[in-house]
Amino acid sequence: MIFPYNLYRFLSNPRDYLEGLQKKYGDPFPLSFPGAKTIKLTGKSDLARSIFTAPPDSFVPSEKNPVGPLLGKEGLIMIGGKNHLSTRKDFMAHFSKSHLLQFAPVIEEVFKEIEGEKEDEGILSLQSFSFKATLKIILRFLFPHLEQRDYIEAEKLTETFLKSYSASFLFIPQWVPMTWNVFNQKKLALDERFYEYYLSGLETGAKGPLYDLGEMSKTKVLDHIRTFIVAGHETSATSLTWTLFYLLKDPFLKNRAVEQLALFKSSLDYYQILDDPFLDAVFSEGLRINPPVPFVTRKIQNRSFKWGQDTVDVDEEIGVCLSLLHRQPDLWKDPDVFRPDRFLENKYSPFEFAPFGGGTRRCLGAELSSIEIKLLTAFFLHSFECELVELKMPISEVLQITIGPKKPIMVQFKKRK
Ligand code: HEM
Repeated sequence: MIFPYNLYRFLSNPRDYLEGLQKKYGDPFPLSFPGAKTIKLTGKSDLARSIFTAPPDSFVPSEKNPVGPLLGKEGLIMIGGKNHLSTRKDFMAHFSKSHLLQFAPVIEEVFKEIEGEKEDEGILSLQSFSFKATLKIILRFLFPHLEQRDYIEAEKLTETFLKSYSASFLFIPQWVPMTWNVFNQKKLALDERFYEYYLSGLETGAKGPLYDLGEMSKTKVLDHIRTFIVAGHETSATSLTWTLFYLLKDPFLKNRAVEQLALFKSSLDYYQILDDPFLDAVFSEGLRINPPVPFVTRKIQNRSFKWGQDTVDVDEEIGVCLSLLHRQPDLWKDPDVFRPDRFLENKYSPFEFAPFGGGTRRCLGAELSSIEIKLLTAFFLHSFECELVELKMPISEVLQITIGPKKPIMVQFKKRK
């Protein structure tokens, strides 16, 4: 079996590959992989606007979502129509800022747990810190009632489940050994145990997005659980890694952030951290320059779709390429430069800056990730004096589901007294 060359190029350097397609074909441009429908993508904000503001019944989710096998068919990302809107509404309250603020102490506990495992000084990898923290956070968010030993088990099950999958599997037939069968075993192991966690949560009156949806089939419960874990873990981890990398790379920005934290009445004051305009700008700039999700797609249904000069037929797929949208030269001056101040000087519309996608499909966990990334960044800078071991810009590749640095980014740290 020959591994398709264009898929290889996309997986190993997605940003350049997508930029190359736009240069070659103009905008919108076609993205195609073997066995999957060609998707027309845009990096322009007027075309992004027309997707994000279209009536919800214009689209259903794309046919071949690279993370589909991880999620299952009944989780929020894979469902469409009225079912999608009503399920989303049921979850909404748990993802609002006011509700999530109650969760801030859990994020701090997670940080302290990881910090406590570290010596007074040494070397750490930004990825391993970020992936560890965001996994612990999403598990505590979904299953707030578990004991410490259950969390340790849940972390292991999730890590082996995620590691057993790669987006390239979509192009590998189901019968190829050592791919799908390993994945299916790990999925089964995770499902069995996670369903028990869910049932114990119901029994003990746990609070969280899974627990006030009324009666649900086992498949639906598990698809929701896997959807939140997959959507909420690697995305936040990658984005936290990039944010810390860019801050540590630039001594001026790092000192500005550390000094800003020192001004707060208590450096771990959640409200001050979350409301700080500079930290907010740092968070946004991290997501602008390296959006973890490279593009969002939609399949047209019910009637053909007027898209700029084009009319796109029912069943065709279109989408927004976020990495190109965030680098449109007429919108973003010096797009390759990490400059948080641009967000203090200008306001960008949701069709110009859209790391969480848009419209009725916009990321449900945007607020959760904003809170966790800002708090973890602040706790990290407050607790560790650190420097990057290597200043070189890391190469990005497609990780499990997001675009992130290929090699570990190592940091020399010393705990602050
Ligand atoms: C920096 C972190 C994150 C980024 C960059 C991100 C990005 C995205 C993007 C681009 C989409 C698709 C939106 C569209 O199609 O228009 C999405 C959907 C989604 N995300 Fe996130 N996400 C992040 C964190 C999270 C977290 C922490 C959760 C929480 C569990 C989460 C849950 C979801 C869900 C459930 C959807 C599907 C929404 C729907 O179809 O209605 N995400 N995310």
